[in-house]
Amino acid sequence: MDLKAPISSPIHLNAPRARRRVGRPELLGLLAVLLASNFFAFGFFYQPQRLTELPLHSESILARCRALDVKPAPAPSFHLRTQSDRFQTGTHAVLVKNATIWTGRVDGLEVLKGDIFLDGGIIVAVGVVKQSLLDQHRHDIVDAQGAWVTPGIVDMHSHLAVEPAPALAGAQDGNSLKGLVLPFLRSLDAMNTHDDGFALAVAGGITTSLILPGSADAMGGQGFVIKLRPTKERSSSALLLEPPLGLNGSDVDYDVPPRWRHMNVRKAYDEARKMKSVQDQYCEKALGGQWAGLGKFPSDLASEALVDVLRGKFKVQTHCYEAVDIDAFIRMSNEFQFPVAAFHHAHESYLVPEVLKRGYEHPPASAIFASFSRFCFGYTRRPLCLIVSCRYKREAYRHSEFAARILADNGLKVIMKSDHPGIVSRYLVHEAQQAHYHGLSTNLALASVTSAPSEVLGLEHRIGFVKPGYDADIVVWDSHPLALGATPSQVFIDGIPQFANPHVSKKPASQQSAPKTPDFDKEIKDTAATQTSGSVLFRNISSFWTRDGSSIRMAEAVDNVLVKGGVIVWSGSDAELTSASIDGALTVDLQGGSVSPALVSAGSMMGLQEIAMEESTADGVVFDPLSAEIPTILGEQTVIRAVDGLQFGTRDALLAYRDGVASAITAPNGYGMFQGLSVSFSLGSGNKLEKGAVLQEIAGIHVSLGLQLPSSASTQIATLRRLLLQPPKDEYGLEFQQVSRGSLPLVVTVHNADVIANLLLLKQEVETKVGKTMKMTLVGATEAHLLAPEIAAAGVGVILSPPRSFPYTWEQRRILAGPPLTAQSSAAWLASHNITVGLGPQGVNAQAAMSNWAVRNLRFDMAWVALESGGSISKEIALSMASSNIETLLGVRSGASSEFAVTRGGDLFSLDAKVIAMVSAKRGVVDLF
Ligand SMILES: *[C@@H]1O[C@H](CO)[C@@H](O)[C@H](O)[C@H]1NC(C)=O
Ligand SMILES: *[C@@H]1O[C@H](CO)[C@@H](O)[C@H](O)[C@H]1NC(C)=O
Ligand SMILES: *[C@@H]1O[C@H](CO)[C@@H](O)[C@H](O)[C@H]1NC(C)=O
Ligand SMILES: *[C@@H]1O[C@H](CO)[C@@H](O)[C@H](O)[C@H]1NC(C)=O
Repeated sequence: MDLKAPISSPIHLNAPRARRRVGRPELLGLLAVLLASNFFAFGFFYQPQRLTELPLHSESILARCRALDVKPAPAPSFHLRTQSDRFQTGTHAVLVKNATIWTGRVDGLEVLKGDIFLDGGIIVAVGVVKQSLLDQHRHDIVDAQGAWVTPGIVDMHSHLAVEPAPALAGAQDGNSLKGLVLPFLRSLDAMNTHDDGFALAVAGGITTSLILPGSADAMGGQGFVIKLRPTKERSSSALLLEPPLGLNGSDVDYDVPPRWRHMNVRKAYDEARKMKSVQDQYCEKALGGQWAGLGKFPSDLASEALVDVLRGKFKVQTHCYEAVDIDAFIRMSNEFQFPVAAFHHAHESYLVPEVLKRGYEHPPASAIFASFSRFCFGYTRRPLCLIVSCRYKREAYRHSEFAARILADNGLKVIMKSDHPGIVSRYLVHEAQQAHYHGLSTNLALASVTSAPSEVLGLEHRIGFVKPGYDADIVVWDSHPLALGATPSQVFIDGIPQFANPHVSKKPASQQSAPKTPDFDKEIKDTAATQTSGSVLFRNISSFWTRDGSSIRMAEAVDNVLVKGGVIVWSGSDAELTSASIDGALTVDLQGGSVSPALVSAGSMMGLQEIAMEESTADGVVFDPLSAEIPTILGEQTVIRAVDGLQFGTRDALLAYRDGVASAITAPNGYGMFQGLSVSFSLGSGNKLEKGAVLQEIAGIHVSLGLQLPSSASTQIATLRRLLLQPPKDEYGLEFQQVSRGSLPLVVTVHNADVIANLLLLKQEVETKVGKTMKMTLVGATEAHLLAPEIAAAGVGVILSPPRSFPYTWEQRRILAGPPLTAQSSAAWLASHNITVGLGPQGVNAQAAMSNWAVRNLRFDMAWVALESGGSISKEIALSMASSNIETLLGVRSGASSEFAVTRGGDLFSLDAKVIAMVSAKRGVVDLF
């Protein structure tokens, strides 16, 4: 018998023992005596307290029972602490002087000018720091010179460390594909501390992240909160912030309040509800002293976590996208009576605010992206992508950039999250910037990445605010954190400065305050645009840029621009304005806005797909002649043309158009070495037959080279060499003959510096033998900075995609990270070597197929390059990187460009401005939004 089992009656107590000690006849005799003396036994012995032999761990069981429904909370003495449990011995006290401090308090409205004192891993004083305090503690001094300081940024949805970078097949633990409901799976058990993403996230000000298992399963498992600094112990455990007690199997002190746990959950609560009720009945008896037949405390691994969900001890973090799922989950939370902490992704929660308000106990927060939607994940494992994720990425289709504001207007909590590496965690604050741009107030936008996630994680007693007694996690910014391109100049985690030698670029004074964001009230209600081929007079312009071929320059003294039939017919100052020019024209006040060459995008699948991996919405994938069996009817040597697959009026195209991108250059979607011939087309056109819809049927021939493809990298180079030097008599031969003669650009998607070196040598070899200069452009080019002088000497151009690098794969691992980690960004470094640079979309994993949604942000990406260059990249250079350079590099003949973007309230570089019109000479119209 198990001595731990509770036993309550003398008969029960003695019988089994007797069985061991005595033979059967004696036992019967003993029983008879006991039965006979029953009456006396009761009268004489009835003192259960004394008689009942309690199970060995009864005290612990009782403590556990008493704690069953105790809600997680910090220990009562927590606020008296003078040193953090995460304090690292040897950490110096620090005085951050002269800061502009956003504290997170008073609904995020409090801003203090003053100092912050950090000691013992916690914030000791904020605002005015007493001299006596400083006198008592030796400390380092950081002069912030008035810079903005915020709490450390909290990323409430990250797969950092479980999907480490660079991605290697053997180290991807984001999802388990071994079961649909995995409440016992823990992200902690797979955290790879060697992830390059750690240092990069810290470079974006992230100090704390909730690491969730992926969303491939209905119930992915348990998330854990970590701090991102390197620790002396170097273990994953040392990263944990307030992990649940007893995590390592040590005895739990049930008299200490429990800690929050985090569950990534969808359904299957019924079993758990049964177990909960079994436990409750058990404890009712145990607490009442009725140990008879109780046995062990009922619990099993499968339901343990879910029972705690039902007891309200978990912060339930659920992936839910569409209104139908949100409605279903809220219904379930009420049926099973557990609160939901947050809906993650929640692309449609803005459509159903009333449903959220019906959530059990309190409405869940929405943890959302700013503009990331209509995409697909699963980039590391294509099968996963096809089987699971893509099926539901349709659910991101109805996302709105105004969701954050609409939710906030409904009094619901908004959190911006990265879903790293979906959005690289380093750029989480950019999500808040975009939400702010689209109408979320300044205080709530800052709260959305600091205090709001801290509250939803149940950690508001120690992170997310700059407050005495809180963890010493703060970020010193080079500009207002909601200004575009805001970058930390220093980050403290547990009081420890994270950069030994930060590179800080000087930002314009205008970046030191929150942008005065445009009014989008009209867009929220109605997105209709008007189109006119008549006259439009744009007035009150502060900058007018013109483009001649590849050169862009600012025209002097232009207050007005007159457009007729989509063509700029006149521009000049107010003094030069005549009544004739005004006559009959529709007049539009730009309030200090701009007219500039429209942007051009390359490096996405724009025009070839609507929802990235929803196959029925996409042109599809082309056969790779190096690795696939090509149907004879197609002919093995047929070169595919993107122009034959174009779709017009996709949502991503229209959104990009409304944000200033007039055209895109797209190559067919290849999974192997060969893509085919790219096309240049207008994003504002409704169909291919419209005037100006297709701008150039064939731009360049596109191939991919690298270690990740079905063929070997050496085979790829050999194939190129053959095609260029001994062109066969077929379509490929004809096209590559044009390449070797310099009349068709060879556009190569490639990241790895060693492969790039081979390409440069091949180019030289071909040019020597053929006697002509080849046009070669590298797309992607994450490691191009390592060979900048050689690339420049070879006359090769680069389309940097994404413009802000991340070591997604092995071939991209050597990035130039930019400030504060390196002085220069890749774009600025390449440009400083006189390489023609274009900017691709900041999409996911540098993959064209996962980047359409990001094309609309090209204006922010180009502005970012200029801002972080410290002045070396002018607005003109940045504009050409996002327009003329791309056309030049991809073989689009543009001449004097005829497409313009018109902004109100500032220029394309400013978060104060929005695009209000597109002017198209090729289409003969002006579109007014
Ligand atoms: C704080 O920094 C600003 C900007 O550098 C400077 O103008 C101001 O004098 C400084 N204030 C103090 C108290 O040092
Ligand atoms: C287990 O974790 C507790 C903190 O929860 C710690 O005090 C204890 O030392 C750990 N035990 C081992 C064996 O690591
Ligand atoms: C031009 O725009 C500025 C900035 O919005 C505004 O203050 C000014 O009144 C405008 N001027 C005219 C003439 O409309
Ligand atoms: C880039 O071009 C400029 C002007 O033509 C020249 O002065 C400069 O030396 C060049 N830089 C490099 C790194 O070649």
